[in-house]
Amino acid sequence: MKPGSKTTDFGTTARISHDSAEYYDSKLYSELSSEAQAIALPDNPFPPNLENKLMGGNSENMTEIPPNSVHLMITSPPYNVSKVYDEDMSLDEYLTMLKKVFTESYRVLVHGGRACINVANIGRKPYIPLSDYISRLMIDLGFLMRGEIIWSKGMGAGVSMAWGSWQSASNPVLRDTHEYILVFSKGTFTLSGKENTITKEQFMEWTKSVWTMNPESAKKIGHPAPFPLELPYRLIQLYSFKDDIVLDPFMGSGTTAVAAWKTGRKYIGYEISEEYLELSQKRLTALQAQTTMALL
Ligand SMILES: C[S@@+](CC[C@H](N)C(=O)[O-])C[C@H]1O[C@@H](n2cnc3c(N)ncnc32)[C@H](O)[C@@H]1O
Repeated sequence: MKPGSKTTDFGTTARISHDSAEYYDSKLYSELSSEAQAIALPDNPFPPNLENKLMGGNSENMTEIPPNSVHLMITSPPYNVSKVYDEDMSLDEYLTMLKKVFTESYRVLVHGGRACINVANIGRKPYIPLSDYISRLMIDLGFLMRGEIIWSKGMGAGVSMAWGSWQSASNPVLRDTHEYILVFSKGTFTLSGKENTITKEQFMEWTKSVWTMNPESAKKIGHPAPFPLELPYRLIQLYSFKDDIVLDPFMGSGTTAVAAWKTGRKYIGYEISEEYLELSQKRLTALQAQTTMALL
């Protein structure tokens, strides 16, 4: 067999069979968690009575879910920026809350299970790079980082007019038209499963690190910060197999559950607010009724 290309001072053009062993053996990687260090515990069956369930309550404790039983976690945490559902927490308190939820997520994911976190950076005086804090937190919990997707909000971005000093270098302010999706694996990068549902064209497009998707209308959905259905829809098909279990610990209006249902996966979600739990339940009931009608 032809040996794979090696990394050179000038990079390489032949990436398909690239031999990167030398690069990963370098000092840069010596202090990071690696697949080799992870203990591969066997998967547990996901309890059938929890399949397609929305749970009311705090996801800091997801005691109902057995360890090593969920394939994919997709979520968008509360931003702690005084949205109606946000508590007024210090940055430290906020990160401690996230740490509890993501420690639980780590526990329930199978070996090779994936975690995808949608987050926007906030503020300007100074800017708070939540995506950086969360990546660090996840790496410290033992997750292996797979990469980050920039969600470009395209023409749909409600661009702020707060440009600081207009046409002057005295204090111009960046106006974000993007958010992040941080992607991690538990223990190993490879996940086994049977049936893929992604097409060739989708795979080629969605493995690129910039996704352009219009935001969802908060008014239309009835929740202050829903992500667009397209976001979990893409992640589910890229990172899980048909019939896999998908968890959202901050379920909001139930968008992850809707995407899981539409792609032939099973969902479980947690939502602390009764109002939003009811909203997501209504959304799911309507969708499931449509599916039943279509089958008749
Ligand atoms: C950014 S929103 C999620 C929006 C969701 N992606 C959607 O499309 O509707 C975060 C949600 O997390 C809920 N939440 C906050 N803290 C929670 C906790 N500890 N456990 C469960 N839900 C929580 C909030 O009530 C809010 O609905």
